[in-house]
Amino acid sequence: MDLSLPSNRPSNIILIGFMGCGKSSVGMALAHSLKWDFIDTDSMIEARYGNTIAQLFEEKGEGYFRAQERDTARIIANDRRHCVVATGGGFGAMIENIRQLGWVVYLKLPFEAILARMDKEQKAKRPLFSDTNAAQILYNARAPIYKSQADLIVDATKPVDAIVQAILKKEPL
Ligand code: S3P
Repeated sequence: MDLSLPSNRPSNIILIGFMGCGKSSVGMALAHSLKWDFIDTDSMIEARYGNTIAQLFEEKGEGYFRAQERDTARIIANDRRHCVVATGGGFGAMIENIRQLGWVVYLKLPFEAILARMDKEQKAKRPLFSDTNAAQILYNARAPIYKSQADLIVDATKPVDAIVQAILKKEPL
């Protein structure tokens, strides 16, 4: 499908937003609709490192992880086209010039809704969600940055299908 994205950008869709906002579920469904490839930046980093993100944080620290994210951003900007990219929660807040990777969509979800989605297993995968208060502070700090980085903002409380349709129509939801 031709989405007629801005011609000065790589033809990728970059999904950003806080942990647990549904970037992977929406990304997979969107990639399926577009017949594009689906990429998950955390999975790229895990494959390269040979272990989980939680393990990477423990062994190497957050600084190392952020450097891996910047490398991943460079790979996508230079070498990936017709991809839907689900990013890690920090990616959309910390990668400068994220629009050089493609067209950027922010999946916006209230913190209370994120919390409701986070069971013990989900939290265990996410080192920066081990403390709820710290996660809320991070959420508040990042929300305006996601907004400023986005070409489109969608309401991630809606069902995945509705979100995918809004993105395909390039209409706010
Ligand atoms: C992070 C979010 C995680 C993962 C890492 C750091 C963050 O991804 O990249 O644990 O800084 O918000 P998800 O958004 O998929 O949970």
